[in-house]
Amino acid sequence: MTDPLVALGPLFRTAIERAFGAELCDTDPVLRSSQHADFQANLALPLGKRLGRPPRDVASALVTELGQSDLVEQTEIAGPGFINIHVGKGWLSRALAEVARGSLGLEPAAHVETVAIDYSSPNVAKEMHVGHLRSTIIGDALARVLEAQGHRVVRQNHLGDWGTPFGMLIEHLLDGGTESAEHSVRDLNAFYQAARKKFDSDSGFAERARRRVVLLQGGDPETLALWKKLVDASKSYFASVYALLGIALGDADVAGESLYNPLLAGVIDELRAKGLAVESDGAVCVFPPGFSGRDGEPLPLIIQKQDGGYGYATTDLAAVRYRVEKLGASRIIYVVGSPQAQHLSMIFSAAKLAGWLPATARAEHVAFGSVLGADKKMLKTRAGETTRLIDLLDEAVSRARAIVAAKNPSLDAVEQEAIARAVGIGAVKYADLSSDRIKDYVFDWDRMLAFEGNTAPYLQYAHARIRSIFRKGEAAVPPPSAIVVTEPAEKALALRLLAFPTVVGDVATTLHPHKLCGYLFELATAFSAFYESCPVLKAGTPAERESRLALCDLTARVIERGLGLLGIEAPERM
Ligand code: ARG
Repeated sequence: MTDPLVALGPLFRTAIERAFGAELCDTDPVLRSSQHADFQANLALPLGKRLGRPPRDVASALVTELGQSDLVEQTEIAGPGFINIHVGKGWLSRALAEVARGSLGLEPAAHVETVAIDYSSPNVAKEMHVGHLRSTIIGDALARVLEAQGHRVVRQNHLGDWGTPFGMLIEHLLDGGTESAEHSVRDLNAFYQAARKKFDSDSGFAERARRRVVLLQGGDPETLALWKKLVDASKSYFASVYALLGIALGDADVAGESLYNPLLAGVIDELRAKGLAVESDGAVCVFPPGFSGRDGEPLPLIIQKQDGGYGYATTDLAAVRYRVEKLGASRIIYVVGSPQAQHLSMIFSAAKLAGWLPATARAEHVAFGSVLGADKKMLKTRAGETTRLIDLLDEAVSRARAIVAAKNPSLDAVEQEAIARAVGIGAVKYADLSSDRIKDYVFDWDRMLAFEGNTAPYLQYAHARIRSIFRKGEAAVPPPSAIVVTEPAEKALALRLLAFPTVVGDVATTLHPHKLCGYLFELATAFSAFYESCPVLKAGTPAERESRLALCDLTARVIERGLGLLGIEAPERM
């Protein structure tokens, strides 16, 4: 246990037990960082209430039992009964050395599990839009964080690659000649819209499209080959977006809707057998309790339509079952926009009723808001169209290219290009990850690319600047044992550094990546304060220089690793 905040927990529990008995041990010490001390415990007030004793008396009894140690070097009782805690510098120095020697304090979670994470999930033959961007970025970061906690993460790219639209898409493809699949994905939206238009206006085409859907569902080989052509073309397009984004999602992670096609009939049969599926208006529906429409009528999950076709909900039910039974997941995470909240919660509820989501497994919806333009409306291009993801990313890199060239013209072209990519893509990702995902956020180029504030470029620059200290001083990285915490700014930095594993664990639990962003920003800020007040290369003694260089290196490593968990690169120089 290298985070003092975590280490203090058991110490407090023992103190409560000794002072007031085991029954009260469950009182949360509510430890917080504080301006007046390293931490402040707000414990004596709730305990005082339970005991019917003045909080300051309770606090002083606790302080006596806490005793004095290397961890709790000094305490004061403040205000109505807060306990201020000062951590010993020796304890901090040892903890830092341990962290620097190992994996920055990151350890496997106490309970390691298989986590299936459903993210990105764009639709075949349709352009990816900014909603898919959010899912891709947030999902990728969560997958990395969960992996860092030692979990077995199974990425599930739930591609929309099946269903009725494929009838018209295939017929449109045939009309244009079969070789046009690769060509058509270059303008996916146009392809889709042209097919849609023909479907709506040409009854002969619509009829062909409907027959084509029947052939597709019946497994007609020629139809399947055409379908596969469309899917493959889209997949290679998605792969190019992932490559540009630096997202670890490959072919092996694709578990599209079509995967579940053979399982759908079984899903319906079992729901019927369990008495959960009922006929309603010619469709087969499940009515999970607790969901009702505007006029109070129960809401259905339609699992088989009037025409016998299966839908989005049927596939999602099959997917829950597959993830629990076949993948062995005990946690299933859905990174999907907020508008699908009700759909997913109905799916979870129906899956529980059917026994496909047992008490040993849990499903969570990681919801997120919209990306807005400067006008606070959904992000649109100047021409008023929805922004294409690829255009957005290209613009990010080209804007970063100009900034990098202006800041560091002496770097060679290849390195400049790599930095521009890291900064541009990093800025887009970080802007998304650093805001509370539930809320909408405004897409603002200037803010996300700024070198000040809670941005990727600020953190990347902080990291590169630390690396430059070593280059400038021609200094080697000292051994971890060199660290001796002395100055207040060193102590403040030490406390932030040691909090890293706690924050990562918190993100793995709450699935809120903005907490890691906030932490990294605080860490970089603490580093700046340290660097301003504590000379490193010109330190007073060789030992002090070694200690500070080791602190610098550790800070750079934590920033690099933290950005890495968010899927953001940290260039060596900028
Ligand atoms: N393809 C869907 C869309 O674009 C998202 C799928 C989300 N995952 C799921 N299991 N429903 O809206």
